[in-house]
Amino acid sequence: MEEKDWPVLKGERCTLAVLSLEDAEAWKAGEDEEQRRWFEFPGPAPMENVVGAICKWRDQWQTDGPMRQWGIWSSGELAGGVEIRDRGDRRANVSYVVFPTFRRRGVATEAVCLATEWAFRNLAVDVAVAVIDERNAASTAVAKRAGFTFEGRAERWEYDESGPCVRYVLHARK
Ligand SMILES: CC(C)(COP(=O)(O)OP(=O)(O)OC[C@H]1O[C@@H](n2cnc3c(N)ncnc32)[C@H](O)[C@@H]1OP(=O)(O)O)[C@@H](O)C(=O)NCCC(=O)NCCS
Repeated sequence: MEEKDWPVLKGERCTLAVLSLEDAEAWKAGEDEEQRRWFEFPGPAPMENVVGAICKWRDQWQTDGPMRQWGIWSSGELAGGVEIRDRGDRRANVSYVVFPTFRRRGVATEAVCLATEWAFRNLAVDVAVAVIDERNAASTAVAKRAGFTFEGRAERWEYDESGPCVRYVLHARK
């Protein structure tokens, strides 16, 4: 997909737009202990990793790849990110992060709703899947607030972290 066609998704609390390299500093500044804990980063991400991630995300849009990532913008500031990953089984994983100063305002919930609606309309996807560490209360609350329901214990291939993880799902409206 050409860059001019990359989707910008507007909600009431936030707007989703694909990141560019100019956003690398703000992305890095938003990282905190909570993200490191749940994504199991060994420490603060070096700048080269942040730049590499943004390049990879942009390449996925360019090549219509399985992974689609947006930055979450709130009041003109970068507030986090949300990612859709097409699993190839008509399901797509969704993952999300909101930077500390923007939390507890419904930003993650709205971003998840915008991204999953886009996936249902534009990818071969009928079910959005949130694979969540069973101890991650904030992430579980986001999934529930976005309309996901508990499906069961996640299988080991569905996540890279230590877990154990559970699976919440949202079915596309028919
Ligand atoms: C999880 C995370 C994205 C939540 O972002 P957020 O923008 O604060 O979430 P929202 O404001 O949309 O909150 C949605 C619900 O979660 C609840 N919630 C948010 N943070 C919470 C917390 N720390 N503990 C308990 N509940 C929490 C909110 O109260 C809200 O529920 P309510 O509407 O019933 O009141 C954010 O805390 C984060 O980035 N954490 C680190 C990364 C992470 O764990 N990502 C998920 C990996 S699967």
